[in-house]
Amino acid sequence: MAKDNKNFFKTKNSWSEIKDQLLGCYLTPYFQKVLMTGQPIFYVDCFAGKGKFDDGKDGSPRIALQVRDGCLSRTTLGNGRGQIDTCFIDLNYAQELSVNIADFDNANGRPNVISGKYEDKIEGLLSGKRGVNVFLYIDPYGIRALDSGLFDKFETYGFRTLEMLINFNSFGFFRDTCRVMKVDYQNDEALQDLDDLVEYEPTKVSATKQSEDLLTRIAGGDYWKAIVTNYNEGRINGFQAEKRLSAEYKQRLRQRYGYVLDMPIRLKPGQRPKYRMIHVCDHEDGCFLMAQNMQKRKDELFINVQQEGQLSLIDVVPTMTSTAENELVTTDEIKAKLKEHLARFSGDVRITTLLATFVNDYGLLCQFRMIYDILEEMKSCGMIDIERTPAVTITGKQSAFWEETKGKQIVIRRIKP
Ligand SMILES: C[S@@+](CC[C@H](N)C(=O)[O-])C[C@H]1O[C@@H](n2cnc3c(N)ncnc32)[C@H](O)[C@@H]1O
Repeated sequence: MAKDNKNFFKTKNSWSEIKDQLLGCYLTPYFQKVLMTGQPIFYVDCFAGKGKFDDGKDGSPRIALQVRDGCLSRTTLGNGRGQIDTCFIDLNYAQELSVNIADFDNANGRPNVISGKYEDKIEGLLSGKRGVNVFLYIDPYGIRALDSGLFDKFETYGFRTLEMLINFNSFGFFRDTCRVMKVDYQNDEALQDLDDLVEYEPTKVSATKQSEDLLTRIAGGDYWKAIVTNYNEGRINGFQAEKRLSAEYKQRLRQRYGYVLDMPIRLKPGQRPKYRMIHVCDHEDGCFLMAQNMQKRKDELFINVQQEGQLSLIDVVPTMTSTAENELVTTDEIKAKLKEHLARFSGDVRITTLLATFVNDYGLLCQFRMIYDILEEMKSCGMIDIERTPAVTITGKQSAFWEETKGKQIVIRRIKP
């Protein structure tokens, strides 16, 4: 039974907390990095909500504005060079939102609040932003507004960079595809109790050409039909179908954007993810930063919520870790994949490029720390060289940093296969 949308903002639930943490923790390094370039930023929260939940907790607009103010107050650029324009769109709560973020109308700029539909407003807002760094936070209730044609268009607008963080309700989407193809899913545990977020705004679909076209527009193709057919034939179960659907959805986004990462969000181990947060961008730095952020959030989630204080297999077996998909993977398996990945680069490769392309291809398998250890091991076996610039620290010691920041660079060079 669909829930009343009005209840969404009564109390902030754990699902919303996780989303906002992922967003807030990413925005700090993102704003900082882009501000360093001296180029303007345009941040749009496309489904902004009220700004504040009724229990007093901050919603995504206030979280982003706090980060904006924090970053602008710390930026070392001269006056007037750091610019973050913000815009918040909401169909139902624009007025309340304006009141709830009024305290952010300050020297850093007035947040622009727009009443209306994202799908009607966004093109007008973005059309004059050539050369600007654009970030879109896309957090709808359901999937209806996720028009892939719009995502394709954004890529042609000539932004300096574009990043999107999308809440993709993959289980809700798969259920809708079953409905449209008249495939029975009622007894499938993967699709049971799609409560909370899913039910806040179920897309109304039926076995009609119109609904079929809607799903194809959202998916950016009709690849979903083959997945539902396989599911109906019993070749894959509901969990596998959701995973395949998400994988193909990401692959579709990669037709336009170089880097697509996702993090399935679940609250308990073994539980199916509730939805996926998908990060899309066109440059390696964004992908690298988001991968780091997703890893940190995933580990916090494991410690605080999922494990409920209990030790898991990965705590007692040091050569094993758990992927973002909650699958166990050994160090040897990661090592093999990394070797295979390195072989794709004919010459030297910067560490940020290596890691961003690795997570883009294989997903979030492990912490970057584990990859650094594997690279050290490969170096000691004479398989690769790791060249840092500067090679020595100011105190004359060998440099040991792993992250490329301004003036610091790491090149990985293959010596033998
Ligand atoms: C999941 S809530 C967003 C929550 C928000 N990100 C937060 O953390 O506080 C989705 C919001 O989208 C709004 N909405 C629904 N349809 C919309 C549309 N087509 N365009 C813009 N906003 C829409 C709803 O009013 C609701 O406030």
